[in-house]
Amino acid sequence: LGGAKLIVVANREPYIHRRANGGVELMRPAGGLTTALDPVMQACGGVWVGHGSGDADRETADARGRLAVPPDDPTYTLRRVWLTPEQEEGYYYGFANSTLWPLCHQVYRRPTFDPAHWAVYREVNELFAAAVLEEARGGPAVIFVQDYHFALLPGLLKAARPDLVVAQFWHVPWPNPETFRVCPWAGELLDGMLGNDLLGFHIQYHCNNFLETVDRTVESRICRERFSVGRGDRQTRVLPFPISVDPDLAAEYTVGWQDRVGELRAAHGLGDRPLVVGVDRVDYTKGIPERVRAVGRLLERHPEWVGKFHLVQLGAPSRTNLPAYRDLNAEVQTLADAVNRTHGTADWQPVVFVNRHCGPEDIYALYRDAAGCVVSSLHDGMNLVAKEFVTARDDGQGTLVLSQFTGAARELTDAVLVNPFDVDGLAAGLHAALAMPADEQRRRMRRMRAQVSDNNIYRWAGMLLSEASKLVPDADPPE
Ligand code: G6P
Repeated sequence: LGGAKLIVVANREPYIHRRANGGVELMRPAGGLTTALDPVMQACGGVWVGHGSGDADRETADARGRLAVPPDDPTYTLRRVWLTPEQEEGYYYGFANSTLWPLCHQVYRRPTFDPAHWAVYREVNELFAAAVLEEARGGPAVIFVQDYHFALLPGLLKAARPDLVVAQFWHVPWPNPETFRVCPWAGELLDGMLGNDLLGFHIQYHCNNFLETVDRTVESRICRERFSVGRGDRQTRVLPFPISVDPDLAAEYTVGWQDRVGELRAAHGLGDRPLVVGVDRVDYTKGIPERVRAVGRLLERHPEWVGKFHLVQLGAPSRTNLPAYRDLNAEVQTLADAVNRTHGTADWQPVVFVNRHCGPEDIYALYRDAAGCVVSSLHDGMNLVAKEFVTARDDGQGTLVLSQFTGAARELTDAVLVNPFDVDGLAAGLHAALAMPADEQRRRMRRMRAQVSDNNIYRWAGMLLSEASKLVPDADPPE
């Protein structure tokens, strides 16, 4: 970065302090963004500006909300921004997760368009802009903004400091122009995003959708050869960067995996049957009810599987202030109970739903032990569970059932690709995965592991940040 300071801005902080059992506990949040970016920050150093969301976050940071992380071996700085309950409600639960999340995922859930949420979203983007500008004071800096929580932030930063290099990665899909343009604030959102020097999406398709949306919504010059948008004397390049994981973490997390799996199997009455695992935040984009229904359909169509495997679904509760999310936990449990009642036997339950947050050691132990992993998202920018599963399989075995509507399906073409909206097709995919001969599993897994190992998270960050640093403007930083 040529001596420039790296500042990442992401709503979710990578380390959360919570009060528990009379003390303070450190928690690592579920979700691809923090898992992917924390190793990059550990390697590069710099500052991560994020929402201080834990109830013990204030007492573990200094007066400006800063602390060195990871707490046991610090390599970078976390700068926590404090939000009031009203700001969290309007910006995070409201505009980010009830408007932009369903709008971008196109999962037939009507987005909310509430002017009060929009006003708070703008206010919180300004609050983060102030924190970033303070961190960037006095010298060149590259600001790496994450995701749909901060569509307005790039525009605010550029207006205050035209010399900053501002890049944004949009971790969720970008829909087609007809879908996006129903948003009453489409123009303002695009104006904010066009404050970026570089804007990244997971796949070319999302870049194309974005350029089409800009073309139909705001005044600009689009160059389809350079994939850039020009406004005045400024340019925003719009390029795909498929995000990934750190393949070396698997070795760290799978130390002693047999013992952990033994404990998990005993705790959930799993015996020694083969496992198919699902690992998700409980979110309506992830296709969890579809997956449970498909297990029922599989057992109807192929009774030879009765008593022969378990679906172990780890579901971390997520965004539970929103009814759509809260209700989904109960819906999945009800569906799992119904499948278990219909198809289970006295000593066998086909679906085991573990509705709580699990640490990476438990998750990776299950990945390593499982016969297969199923990712049935209805729409997903990338999906890092698919990639994590592959990195855990140093034995070269295991099958991946993967929704064709994930970014990951573009790269992991050796998975069993399925349409999760088609219950029969998903059931057939599960059957194909469970019945796949060992040598075919090995052939496919070898190719998938090579793909993730070559295109890892460091390559993603390196490509994105080196592209951004080519765009350093000439202007001098202010005194
Ligand atoms: C998705 C989003 C991330 C988010 C993660 C977890 O991957 O793209 O921005 O951090 O979900 O969700 P949460 O709302 O808990 O941060």
